[in-house]
Amino acid sequence: MRKIVIVIGLLFSVGLGINSSAEDKTHRVDEGSHHKMHFVEDSRISLGLSPAMKQHQLANMRAHVEAVQSIIGLLSEGGFDKASDIAYSKLGLTEEMKKMCNSFENETFKNLGLAFHKSGDALGETLKTKDMTKSLRALQTTMTYCVQCHATFRQ
Ligand code: HEC
Repeated sequence: MRKIVIVIGLLFSVGLGINSSAEDKTHRVDEGSHHKMHFVEDSRISLGLSPAMKQHQLANMRAHVEAVQSIIGLLSEGGFDKASDIAYSKLGLTEEMKKMCNSFENETFKNLGLAFHKSGDALGETLKTKDMTKSLRALQTTMTYCVQCHATFRQ
């Protein structure tokens, strides 16, 4: 009888031991995913846009990436004049883009947007020279704004 009690007691404590180490593990896993959550957290500045503004902005952005694609394609064929037109009309500081940029409350974002579109006009100007190296450099300058803004801001 005594032996049985000891065996049961032993099993019980082993059982507890397993349980607590399992809890430890769960805890550790939880902590791990917590750290991961911190890691993937989007720490960029939010613009706090309305749903309608979000869609409008994304549509604009898709037009920007399409313009860059067209410009690169035209450059590969020596189509500098057409590429220049696209730079002015799709990336440049048109009245529409000026209005759009000025509608943002965040001053840094607004200024970055305006500087970006000015660089689009400068790209249009450079493309007219039909100088490939200068044109690629100007396109790179414009794309630096894409990269910089995306690294800093989110919707
Ligand atoms: C002044 C800031 C700014 C500049 C400059 C800018 N963007 Fe964006 N773009 C944004 C923001 C903000 C978003 C939304 C990102 C988010 O919320 O994750 C975005 C999103 C996008 C998207 C995603 C569109 C979608 O439908 O999901 C693309 C593509 C994009 N930008 C392309 C470009 C390209 C190409 C350029 C440069 C030629 C550019 N952007 C310049 C601010 C900018």
